[in-house]
Amino acid sequence: MGMTMMAMMAMMIVIVVMAMVVVCMVVIMVIVLGARMRAFMAVRRLMRMSNPPSIPTLAIASITCFLRQTKLVIDWHNFGYSILALKLGQNHPLVKLSTWYEKVFCKSASAHLCVTDAMKYFLKKEFELQHPILPLHDRPASHFSPILDSSVRTEFLANLPETREVRSFLNAGTLRVLVSSTSWTADEDFSVLIDALLRYSELATTTQPHLPEVLAIITGKGPQKDMYLEQIALLEKSGKLQKVTIRTAWLSVPDYAKLLASASLGVSLHTSSSGVDLPMKVVDMFGAGLPVVGWDRFKAWPELVTEGVNGLGFGSSEELAEHLIELFGNSSRLETLRQGAQKESSRCWDDEWDPIAAPLLGLT
Ligand SMILES: *[C@@H]1O[C@H](CO)[C@@H](O)[C@H](O)[C@H]1NC(C)=O
Repeated sequence: MGMTMMAMMAMMIVIVVMAMVVVCMVVIMVIVLGARMRAFMAVRRLMRMSNPPSIPTLAIASITCFLRQTKLVIDWHNFGYSILALKLGQNHPLVKLSTWYEKVFCKSASAHLCVTDAMKYFLKKEFELQHPILPLHDRPASHFSPILDSSVRTEFLANLPETREVRSFLNAGTLRVLVSSTSWTADEDFSVLIDALLRYSELATTTQPHLPEVLAIITGKGPQKDMYLEQIALLEKSGKLQKVTIRTAWLSVPDYAKLLASASLGVSLHTSSSGVDLPMKVVDMFGAGLPVVGWDRFKAWPELVTEGVNGLGFGSSEELAEHLIELFGNSSRLETLRQGAQKESSRCWDDEWDPIAAPLLGLT
């Protein structure tokens, strides 16, 4: 423990020193190159930076913009300090330092974009920002789009190696495919999904035999993956996962987009470090017209998902299990949510971007 603290401290010092060196280099460049540099830079009226990462980008950007007399626009996706707090805990001195750093340097920006309304209010209240803050909800990249023909969806699934063992159910139309992409880290508790699937299996083999066969395809790489894979293998061996098959997959971006469009339901375990950021994967699922059940115990959740229209929220593995039973046990319930998600997929970037960001950046 003491060692990791020391290592973190040392790393932090190295980062701060590196940031200072870069800042000094920028200052020297500006002074030495003088007028020529200024003439060159004068063309750039605006600089947009994404936050996080905050260290050292935020300091460099704000100092550079001050020297160049460029307007800085910060595009907030989350907070550097809240992500650090996941690893170190709220009360760690480095988290306090990082909070202070973010609060101080962001003040130099002349405008802010952020991903939720909740984040706007947070920035206004906690960061005491005076300049305009414009919420701009994330939209999926253009390669996420629904596949409307159900035979095309089935064909795509049938060609995946992950569906080999359940192909007879797939062909008979009785398989439900659940997709979850996880970073396999501590802030996404994968055991919530495993426990819910165990409960589903238990009911599907006892009191509710009408429940269909489920294939859960999990994508993503991360530190806790091997641990969970061992756990899943043990559960399979002991016969506790009947009517439920769990497979991991690593897909290309186009194939991941097709999988989202072909599956029955998406699951998000994202727990939002700040409470006001949103899981991009849910945005992508909606882009593909896939309904979503997700962890909803954070403030910004209702800005993304309309309960019962395009998805459902849960706060425990019991609630997740209830949703799976309800949606997989009644295809008309699932179909209603699918229609809601497909409606959501028709909103694209331009719908968000044009009315909000374009006037700010002087583009209209
Ligand atoms: C399925 O859900 C619909 C509402 O979406 C409801 O009207 C119907 O009764 C449900 N069917 C069963 C068997 O529970």
